[in-house]
Amino acid sequence: MLPQRIIEQLIAIVGESRLLLEADDLKRFGVDRTTLWQAAPCGVVLPGTVEEVQSIVRLANQCNLAIVPSGGRTGLSGGAVAKDGELVVALDRMNQVIEFNPMDRSVTVGAGMTTGQLQQFAEEQGLFYPVDFASSGSSQVGGNIATNAGGIKVIKYGMTRNWVVGLKVVNGAGDVFELNKGLAKNNTGYDLRHLFIGSEGTLGLICEATIQLARAPLESSVMVLGIENFTEIVDVLACFSHDLDLSAFEFFSQLALEKVVAHRGHAVPFQTETAFYALLEFEHSSPEIVDKAMALFEHCLDKGWVMDGVISQSLSQAKNLWKLREDISETLWQWQPYKNDISVRISRMADFLGEVDQLVMEQYPDFEIIWYGHIGDGNLHLNILKPELLSVDQFHNKCVNVSTDIGQLLAKYEGSVSAEHGVGLLKKDYLHYSRSAVEIDMMRSIKRAFDPNHIMNPGKLFD
Ligand code: MLT
Ligand code: ZN
Repeated sequence: MLPQRIIEQLIAIVGESRLLLEADDLKRFGVDRTTLWQAAPCGVVLPGTVEEVQSIVRLANQCNLAIVPSGGRTGLSGGAVAKDGELVVALDRMNQVIEFNPMDRSVTVGAGMTTGQLQQFAEEQGLFYPVDFASSGSSQVGGNIATNAGGIKVIKYGMTRNWVVGLKVVNGAGDVFELNKGLAKNNTGYDLRHLFIGSEGTLGLICEATIQLARAPLESSVMVLGIENFTEIVDVLACFSHDLDLSAFEFFSQLALEKVVAHRGHAVPFQTETAFYALLEFEHSSPEIVDKAMALFEHCLDKGWVMDGVISQSLSQAKNLWKLREDISETLWQWQPYKNDISVRISRMADFLGEVDQLVMEQYPDFEIIWYGHIGDGNLHLNILKPELLSVDQFHNKCVNVSTDIGQLLAKYEGSVSAEHGVGLLKKDYLHYSRSAVEIDMMRSIKRAFDPNHIMNPGKLFD
């Protein structure tokens, strides 16, 4: 419960209608897409300007009130969960285009703009914002930056970090920083912008972002290929990426396909059933590139890596093929999946896949495991479905063992326990498999420098 005097001070900053205290709002704003924790914030505040954000942070410092920054709450690691009486600061109202500069090909937007709105704006200017994922419609730019979101085009366009050329932030002490100011080149010491990207709200609040936009992409084609053997997906990737400039190389298992087809009613891509499917996309300026892709497909068939395949003949076919991959995450929510979001270097992927597959089959034969992910980036999503008979807590306790085993394997392969979803609450116990004790200590020191009273998203990333 927020004390009355703090309520009054918050109302003085944002106005009465922008402080939400009703149970429904607290529940809605206090969680992200994870289901392990209960929302229990003390209030939700909706600032409309950087100055209001600054006043809220200063007040929180005076009152020793923890803040959870909130974007679209589409996160999958509990980074936006307010379970311990924190104040949620939601950036929803700060969603405007602040400045568009066609010469720089950059746009400054409020952190509360959705990814979809930014993509739409770019398209209207004849340009392109290439960071894309299934939750684009509701995820927000600030949240994407705070988690350095990845998505389905990373193989060609990189992560969110690649597109952020400026940030306006309020740190945990209530100071406003303008970081990098949209510059393409700026060698003036430590680049604090990059500390905020991926900081998961632990250093401060991202209020505005200047985003570099890309040129509009060329026409693209999508292929779905049926592959029987897990490790041969990597052979197919190596073959295609050697000769083609891929804009995506995704994979999913037959089990994932079955569930999506049943849930969404999509058509299967072809009749041959294989254990795995690769979905790849490439842009082309001439028919020769499509011919080259067909020749690579034939080569993979001859090698016995690929059993069957299909290539899109129109934009709508391409979109339908994409749905088979993009709809997996949403389809699986009914099983409250325990999510693993891991990565290794591509060159180590085949060996890693072999070991992780063996581990899961030997140690966890009773779990229903759904594989999919951005294999072109070395990023696998391993989702464990909750058996109906287990409670959420029982299920979680069992999954912890899987994560520990996989964490040890990742340490051996020098991989990452979180390739794109972020650490949040879900992965903090496994951070040490990817980052050394000295590194984690250094991160704590950095947090202290930006957030001396430890009010920004405490308990996320590390304790
Ligand atoms: C995806 O690749 O579909 C997203 O990262 C979401 C998820 O893993 O569930
Ligand atoms: Zn993903």
